[in-house]
Parts: sequence; structure tokens; C-alpha cells
Amino acid sequence: MNVSDIFDRHARNYDGERERLIPGFHDFYGVAVDVLTFEGDNPKVLDLGAGTGLLTEFLLKKYPNAEVELIDLADNMLDVARERFKDNPNISYRNENYLTAEFDGEYDIIMSSLSIHHLTQEEKGFLYEKYVNLLNDGGIFINADLVCDEDDSVERLFYKKVDDLILQNVSLEEFEQANERRKFDDTDSIQYQLDCLKESGCNMVGVPFKFYTHAVLWGQK
Ligand SMILES: C[S@@+](CC[C@H](N)C(=O)[O-])C[C@H]1O[C@@H](n2cnc3c(N)ncnc32)[C@H](O)[C@@H]1O
Repeated sequence: MNVSDIFDRHARNYDGERERLIPGFHDFYGVAVDVLTFEGDNPKVLDLGAGTGLLTEFLLKKYPNAEVELIDLADNMLDVARERFKDNPNISYRNENYLTAEFDGEYDIIMSSLSIHHLTQEEKGFLYEKYVNLLNDGGIFINADLVCDEDDSVERLFYKKVDDLILQNVSLEEFEQANERRKFDDTDSIQYQLDCLKESGCNMVGVPFKFYTHAVLWGQK
């Protein structure tokens, strides 16, 4: 079983459980989109590990005319997105690995939610460099993701806090299923990832949102 198999398998009930599994769901996705700036109303956007299109849905509330490319390894997840955006001709789909996918143009916004934490630290470094290179000057990179704390005891405490919050919303069975997916997590610290963004060419970086284990990392080229 690999990361795309596990998401392919859960694609149909993925959206229904999200709000209950992500404490602070609306602020997490809301801030990721709120912090985006673009002059005009039709930014060219790439959503890395787009899944069922949740982050794109938030983005479209702010920029209804955005032209968005969704890329994901799990085609069943993209199928949910295809259905969600079936009336929107500005959305396109690529069932590919974003580490190896090739691109021609440049983007105003490159964004990702809850996907990059599946990569190893080395792959994260590679990904930030690859995609900051694909941004227009002034373009924005957003990663709304799970992060780890550099101090293991703090990390354990924060995970426990989040688990307690989640267990108020889901059955033990749902909780255990979600935990199965954690086997594919490989979180890294906020500082490491901000350094990657800077070294890749972002002039400004920051963290507009953090709640225990979840953070929004932002960089502007
Ligand atoms: C937890 S889901 C997040 C989906 C969506 N962004 C959201 O916020 O709900 C993670 C997604 O990342 C995708 N993914 C993981 N590694 C990937 C890679 N290397 N290339 C493309 N997609 C990847 C998985 O297939 C999965 O659909």
C-alpha cells in the first residue's frame, strides 16, 4: 500500500470527515486563501496534491475566475474534484506525481494543503525549489500542512491535544482509520520549510496560521 492507494480507497468519504478530523478546519483553509494577494481576478493557480479539491474550493470563493490546475497521484480523489467543479471550464486535472511532473508556464499562486508532509525532508527541499522557480515575480507559494515541532515533548503534547479534540467529533473506528493514514506522514519543522522557501527565491516568508500541529506557511517571490 502506498500514499495514492490509501487516498484512492478513502476518496468517497474523504470530504465528509474532513471538518471533524481537522480542528480549526475553516480557519486553516480560510487563512491559506485570505493571505493570497493578486492584482486582478483570474490568477493562474496550481494546487499540488489537490485531492478532492477542498483548497481550490476555498480559493474559488475569493477568485471565482481563477484558472486552476489540480494535480494528484490518486485519480479517485480527482474524480471527486471533477464532479465538484464539473460546471467550471477553468479547472483542469493532472493525475501525476508532482515531484516528477513537467510544466511549461508560470503561475501566480502555487498552493498545497495536507500533502507535502507525505514527502521526505529531501523531497520537500526539492519540491520548494522546483515550484518557487515556477512562480511569476511577486507570485505566492502556500503550504497549509501538518508540521512537527523541533522539541519531541512539545510535539507529543500537541498531537495529544489534537487527538483529544478529534475524539470529541469522531467514533473510535473513524479515528483509527485516520491514524492508519498517519503511517504515511513525514512531517518537518516550520523553520526548515521557511528556510527552503527563502533559499528557493522567496523574498518574504511567514506563518499566518498555526494551531497545534497544523500551520499555513507562506512565501512571496
Ligand atoms: C490528505 S490529502 C489532501 C487533499 C487536499 N489538498 C485537501 O486539503 O483535502 C493528500 C493528497 O496528496 C496526494 N499526494 C501525496 N503525494 C503526492 C505526490 N507526490 N504527487 C501528487 N499527489 C500526491 C494524495 O494522493 C492525496 O490525495
